[in-house]
Amino acid sequence: MVTPCATSTLPNNRRVLVIDDEPSVLRAYQRTMRPLVDADLAGGPFELCCQASPEAGIEALREALEAGRPFALAFVDQCFPGPMDGLEGAARMLELDPNLEVVMVTAAHLTDAATADVKMPPRERFLVLKKPLEAAELRACARSLTHKWTLRRAAQVKLACLDAKLAERVLELEQANQELRAERAARECAQTELLRAQKLEAVGRLASGIAHEINTPAQFVADNLSFARQGVSRLIEMLHAHREIGGPQADKELAKLRRKLKLDYLERELPASLTQAVEGIERVGGLVRAMKEFAHPGQSSKAMTDLSACVSSTAIVARGSYKGVAELELDLAPNAMVMAVAAELNQAILVLIVNAAQAITEVVGPEPERKGRILVSTSCHEHVVRVVVEDSGPGVDEAIEDRIFDPFFTTREVGCGSGQGLAIAHNIVTQRHAGRLYVERTDAGARFVLELPRREVAA
Ligand SMILES: Nc1ncnc2c1ncn2[C@@H]1O[C@H](COP(=O)(O)OP(=O)(O)OP(=O)(O)O)[C@@H](O)[C@H]1O
Ligand SMILES: [Mg+2]
Repeated sequence: MVTPCATSTLPNNRRVLVIDDEPSVLRAYQRTMRPLVDADLAGGPFELCCQASPEAGIEALREALEAGRPFALAFVDQCFPGPMDGLEGAARMLELDPNLEVVMVTAAHLTDAATADVKMPPRERFLVLKKPLEAAELRACARSLTHKWTLRRAAQVKLACLDAKLAERVLELEQANQELRAERAARECAQTELLRAQKLEAVGRLASGIAHEINTPAQFVADNLSFARQGVSRLIEMLHAHREIGGPQADKELAKLRRKLKLDYLERELPASLTQAVEGIERVGGLVRAMKEFAHPGQSSKAMTDLSACVSSTAIVARGSYKGVAELELDLAPNAMVMAVAAELNQAILVLIVNAAQAITEVVGPEPERKGRILVSTSCHEHVVRVVVEDSGPGVDEAIEDRIFDPFFTTREVGCGSGQGLAIAHNIVTQRHAGRLYVERTDAGARFVLELPRREVAA
């Protein structure tokens, strides 16, 4: 809360100090000032305090300050019989109370040279009047200088008040800034969590396809191994027969056994069967590797990343989503390096590939005779590295082009799409990697472009 600055309620200070060693002069001051002392002035009357020496004046000033009732103005004679003259007294008084207005009253001509030795008070609070003083002149002087004191005091209070307001504002801003920083950190944290949850969801959706991808090779690995096991046991039987059968009938009996065990067939088929088993296992291994690369567990900050490698592993992981409806072609540039969180980019690329497959399904149906086509290419340019995903689907309708990156925008049937895919991908590319994700018009199909700054300095 900001404090209000009420300066209009400050009381007028009309307390005047007079210092002169001549009692008759002091009486003259009292006479001259009486109309002001007796006047019924708004904000209070004038008060007069007379002292006979600069030392006594300084003491009176000190007491007044301590009592919280400072003088506004002092008339100080210049010549005194004591060790301190008026000029030095005035300088000391101003040291004690820098707000005091001082009028030096002198019969002599006060030159600059005369004041050169004294530590001079500030000129704007120091006036010199030549004796003899006119009564009206003295009163006018008292009026205007006490008013000046009050105005300056008001200005000081206002300034202090503004300083306090400023300090309050600065504090408020600092607090707001701190809150903003905390909010930003929390948002970033929540965003990372959200991306992770969405990645898990995407992987979950791919899971049945991936299971199928693993199951097919695993199945024929199992079939081939079973065939190989049978073959090996027959070969062993043949070996035993060679060892045990002897005599003149041996060749005939061994030939008969060889036919019974179909050894010629085994000789032809066994090597191919084992090769297929090895291929199957390699395919499973490749898929597991791609899944690991896709997820990149443990890497949550940016590192030099090959976009082409991201496309390769994502294409393998996403195979279940497109292989029934489309052929996928890759055209990958070497060294497509960017500073990135690989797992996040994989997630964005996955969205584009899955969308392409879904768009193609709209055209060719779920079990087509002629499949559609998805082309994913990477290319390096002077300032950017690009991934382009093109498909032979219906293309993005011009009417919805501006909305497809909005969260929850979908044209898919209820339950088939949440409309979050492109919004997530857009967030990953633009907010987290300072890149661009946009759709380009083509004659047929859709063409999505994902562009990242080359060697972007991690934010
Ligand atoms: N390759 C594409 N061809 C044609 N239209 C597309 C393509 N990709 C996206 N769209 C359009 O953009 C919309 C939004 O896509 P987005 O991926 O954000 O959500 P979704 O695919 O509908 O649902 P979700 O991805 O959450 O399952 C889609 O509903 C579709 O209309
Ligand atoms: Mg989608």
